[in-house]
Order: sequence, then structure tokens, then C-alpha cells
Amino acid sequence: MGDDALTVRRLFVEANGEHPMTEADDAYVRAHFEPATAEQLELIAAGRLPLPGYYLSDETPMVADISACLAAAGGVEALHDWFLAFWPGHEETAVDEWATFLAGRYVCLRDLDPLSIRRRTRMLEQARAAVRALRTDPRDEVAQGALAEAVDGGLGVPGLDQLLLPMTAHDRLRFGGPTVRDLWVDAVRAEFHNPQPPALPIRTKRLTLRRARPDDSAATAAAFGDPDFVRHLLVGPQNPAEVAFTAHQRSQPEPPGEHRVLPLLMDLDGTVVGSVVLFFSGAGRTSAEIGWTVYPGWAGRGLAAEAARTLLDVAFEHYGVRRVVANLDAENARSAALAERLGMRRESARVADYWSKGRWTDSYDYAILRAEWEARRHTAP
Ligand SMILES: CC(C)(COP(=O)(O)OP(=O)(O)OC[C@H]1O[C@@H](n2cnc3c(N)ncnc32)[C@H](O)[C@@H]1OP(=O)(O)O)[C@@H](O)C(=O)NCCC(=O)NCCS
Repeated sequence: MGDDALTVRRLFVEANGEHPMTEADDAYVRAHFEPATAEQLELIAAGRLPLPGYYLSDETPMVADISACLAAAGGVEALHDWFLAFWPGHEETAVDEWATFLAGRYVCLRDLDPLSIRRRTRMLEQARAAVRALRTDPRDEVAQGALAEAVDGGLGVPGLDQLLLPMTAHDRLRFGGPTVRDLWVDAVRAEFHNPQPPALPIRTKRLTLRRARPDDSAATAAAFGDPDFVRHLLVGPQNPAEVAFTAHQRSQPEPPGEHRVLPLLMDLDGTVVGSVVLFFSGAGRTSAEIGWTVYPGWAGRGLAAEAARTLLDVAFEHYGVRRVVANLDAENARSAALAERLGMRRESARVADYWSKGRWTDSYDYAILRAEWEARRHTAP
């Protein structure tokens, strides 16, 4: 090892201690970092570029790619001043951040640059405040939005999930505990963004809402084989084998933490007469989309409305979502009438945006907020 390499290795051990690297650690580091060049080691030893994030088990020093920073700054000479300018009026913080950056401590970042460092800090503060608020009031809608953005990102705003790398067992050893991602992405999702299905079946006045069983497939196949029935659905007509296999897939329990859809059949005294479904969407699972079908021969009896009302209760009360939407083909007049009967508001009429069955058609978005649903339940029949 040359002098620079020795100096850099010594500085790395002073900053991080010595911890073993497993084969999995090595593979992870090779995927996200690159071997330091002799020129980089000289600049690192001189305290002008960040220390390596890792040493592979064969002692290769591995650094993050900061070529974008160097290009934007105009070279290594200008890097320090360019970096500090990201904290105008906060010189102490800027100096601390530069020290942390140089010490190679930001190995958690997918992109090692001052913009990502600032975003990480902001999103961590936002997540901490939101978690505090939600532990007091789990229905605090502002905190729900803030937490969802902090973890999952929003429009044009990367969240911690995008900003942070997964990291390694080695990191847990050197940082002496769980990583920032363990705490602020995985644990937060498990605590706040982890809906569980309600107790099933659910009874309404006339219906039992339950999961599909293999022996339902004849009734479902008859509906989904009917071109009139599927005309306004996203799927085309399906044959009995396709329907049976889809029912089989839907009857499988979702893996823990992956509950994204609640598909239920409408059972009227042992006959399957339709289906309703909730899809969870939106960052933090704070909104859901509702869907409904009544099988041929069973429309015009208020059954879809009865099932959908109960499902809206489930969405708002059991899952605690703040908004439920329905998206439909604008030609589906019966579906639009149902959305309106439920008190949903038509929020948009989109022109020729919906590709369905070989043509572009218009579509409607309907929505209802929790507060509106609750107010309506006290007034509507
Ligand atoms: C969309 C769809 C679910 C609507 O079904 P629906 O039966 O019209 O809806 P509802 O359950 O609200 O029933 C309302 C009708 O039942 C009548 N009704 C009869 N008895 C009733 C009762 N006890 N309570 C309430 N309504 C009753 C209402 O008067 C109303 O009839 P009308 O539309 O002729 O005025 C159905 O047309 C369908 O499955 N279509 C094919 C699949 C599809 O396109 N799904 C939607 C995709 S977005």
C-alpha cells in the first residue's frame, strides 16, 4: 500500500472502527460504490474528497460517485465553497455537513450530493414530527400527508425511500444499531402504512360480502363471459378457465405488509350476484379506489349500492383512509348514477383519456372525503 492508501485506511478505521465484511456486504458495496483511484486516494488523504464509504473484504477502498458534484462545482478546488453554499446563513451547519460528508458518513445516500443531504435532513424532521402527531391522533390528515411524503415522496419530491440506500449488516455494526432506513422507512411503513383486512365476512341488510372461493367460479364465469357485462370494465370477456385461475389467485392471502386490495363477492342467500373491491392507493395508503359490479340479471335492485355503502364504511372506519375515488368510463351511465347515489362528487370529466376495448373514450373521476361520508351518514337515508 502507498502512503496515501495507508493514511486513508487509518482515517477510515478511526472514523468507523473495524468490522468484518461478509460476502453479501461486498456484493452490495460493489453494486453501489466504485474502487477509489490513486488520484482520489491522494485527494482523500489531503482532506479534499470524502473518505471511502467502505473497504471490501479484500481491502479495496470503495467510494461514492461524486462526479456530478465535481462537474457542477467546477472541479475539486471549488468543491468546498460550492458545497457550503447550500446552507446560506447557516455557516455552522454547513461546516458540520462538510465534515460529515468528508468523513464518508453519508453512505446511506443513493446520490451523495448536498441536495440529497438537505432533503434527507428535511424529510427526517418531517417524518419525526408526523410520527409524533400520529401517535397522538392516528387520523390527523396533515400528519398522514406529511409522513407519506417524507417516506414515499410526492410530486417531484423524493422521499426517504428514494433518497436512502438499503445498506448492509456491516453498517448496523459500525453505526451500532438500525440504519436510518430501517427506522424511518421500514419501521414507519410497518407502523403506519400497513393496513390489515377487516374481519370477514361482512353482512349488509341483504348481502354477505366475502372472499371468493373456487366453487364460485361458475357464477363469475357466466358474468365475465358476457360482452355486455364487461363492456365498461378494464378486462375483456374471459373464458371459464381464465376466471377460475383469477379467482384462485385472488383467494391467496397477500404476503404480510403487502395488503393492497380487498376483493369481495356479493353473496345473496348463497348466490353470487356481484363483486365490490377496494384498491389502496396514494402515498401512505391514505386513499382507496372503489369498484363494483352486479352480475347480469341482478342489476336494478339496489344491491351494488348496498354493498358499496358498506365498503365505504370499511374504507373510512376500518382502514382510516381520508378519500375514496371511483374512476369510470363516461359511457357507463349506471356506474356514474351509482357513484352519485353514494354521494360521490364528479371531480373530473376527462376527454378521450381512457383506452378501453380498442378505442379512446372519455372517463369520469368521482371522489368522497371521510368528513363528507360521515356528514352524509347522519343525513342520508
Ligand atoms: C354499475 C352497476 C354495478 C350498477 O348496478 P345497479 O344495480 O344499477 O346499481 P344499484 O345497486 O345502485 O341499483 C340501483 C337501481 O336499483 C333500483 N332498486 C330496486 N330496489 C332497490 C332497493 N331495495 N334499494 C335501492 N335501489 C333499488 C333503483 O331504483 C335503481 O334503479 P334505476 O337505476 O332503474 O333507477 C351495474 O350496472 C354493473 O354491474 N354494470 C356492469 C359492470 C360495470 O360496468 N361495473 C362498473 C365499472 S366502473
